[in-house]
Amino acid sequence: MDDELLGELGKMDQDALDFISSLSDDKWIFDADILVDIAHVLMLMEQDIVPERSGVEIIRALKEIKYDDLSGEDVHVAIESRVNELVGEETAGWMHTARSRNDEVATCIRIRLRHELLNIAWDLHQFLKNILKVVEENTNTMMPGFTHLQHAEPTTIGHHYLAYFESFDRNLTRILDCFDRANKSPLGSCALTSTTFKIDRELTAQLLGFNGVMRNSMDGVSSRDFALEAVSCFNNIMLDLSRLSEELIIWSSTEYSFVELPNEYTSTSSIMPQKKNPDTLELVRAKSGSVLGDYTAISSILKSLPYAYNRDLQELTPKIWSSVQNLRGSLNIANEVIKETEFNNEKLKKSSKKGLTSGSELANYLVKQQEIPFRIAHSKISNLVNKGLNIEEMAKQLNIPKNTLKQITDPQKILEQKNTHGSPSPKITKQEIKNGQQRLKKH
Ligand code: ARG
Repeated sequence: MDDELLGELGKMDQDALDFISSLSDDKWIFDADILVDIAHVLMLMEQDIVPERSGVEIIRALKEIKYDDLSGEDVHVAIESRVNELVGEETAGWMHTARSRNDEVATCIRIRLRHELLNIAWDLHQFLKNILKVVEENTNTMMPGFTHLQHAEPTTIGHHYLAYFESFDRNLTRILDCFDRANKSPLGSCALTSTTFKIDRELTAQLLGFNGVMRNSMDGVSSRDFALEAVSCFNNIMLDLSRLSEELIIWSSTEYSFVELPNEYTSTSSIMPQKKNPDTLELVRAKSGSVLGDYTAISSILKSLPYAYNRDLQELTPKIWSSVQNLRGSLNIANEVIKETEFNNEKLKKSSKKGLTSGSELANYLVKQQEIPFRIAHSKISNLVNKGLNIEEMAKQLNIPKNTLKQITDPQKILEQKNTHGSPSPKITKQEIKNGQQRLKKH
């Protein structure tokens, strides 16, 4: 459907019209569109392109319009028709001068997305603060670290949550970077090659809070990489939230019993009265699949689109909003769950010793004290493990005094000796908390 054909719209088949309509999804960009209309008309008045009296009347009408009053193919046409109804065509007819729906919609999406990126940045900031609180309270809470979901080496809840902190901090940085690229104005690109009217693109960009204009009018109307980039960031966050959820779901199972999830964020069974199910976290895990779907859909729609505008682009826009909705809902749940989850310290401590989690330290001891190469120490211990020896029997075979053995296999002692940057010793964890707090202040 070309802009030129809008006057012929009445001739379209009703099913075809319904099929191309985006009005219900356009609810997301309604407020942005009113702002874009006002900024555009103000600029046209300033440039003496529209008569001042008409401009003022149009702006007055625009301020009165509610989304629920609208009907039409899309929000842009519907708003213009509504202004028509309110002030008449002689006046309203000026507002779409030197503009196309192509640059209009691209501008509206960028404005709403900007708003959502800031919301998400705020949510992430809160989330990071909550993670740091968990770290602060658990610098000494022992737990088994896992690889392949098998007991590996002892660590602490503090260290484990610092790992989350790092990854969510990178997510926040990515959102802020993405904001800068989304924050350029395509308005004035018009259909694809700008206009012969003497418009002032810098003025509309400034009025709409953009940090500059897009330099090429074809790029202005054709590109949606800013949306793909945003949804890619959302996908990354959702994947991290899904991993965190998965872990908490496992940790709250009867077999693990590492954590007690807050009652307010679990639900029960309609048949088994004893059940406490982690439904909210399961849905966060599932919604990460939906956001990945949105990312894939956007990529697939963009692939093979010739320049400049094609109506395919309309199909992509709701995927941005559904991923925003899923992400914000999930972040909200994760934020609460993380604050209220209680750790079963006794169980965690006991478990941190299980499965010979001091195996690597035992090998390290042989290297340090008996001066044998690590690979030989490793195979010595692995042979003893294969023979089914317990730790005391192993110590005997390896000539390690009983008292020394106690030291080597005590998870707390192991951690205290780990003073390398990034390690789980409580001392390093405390330094990292300070560093994290400083970083949060800077964002
Ligand atoms: N509703 C359309 C969209 O979201 C607006 C642009 C329509 N432009 C056109 N030339 N048909 O993309």
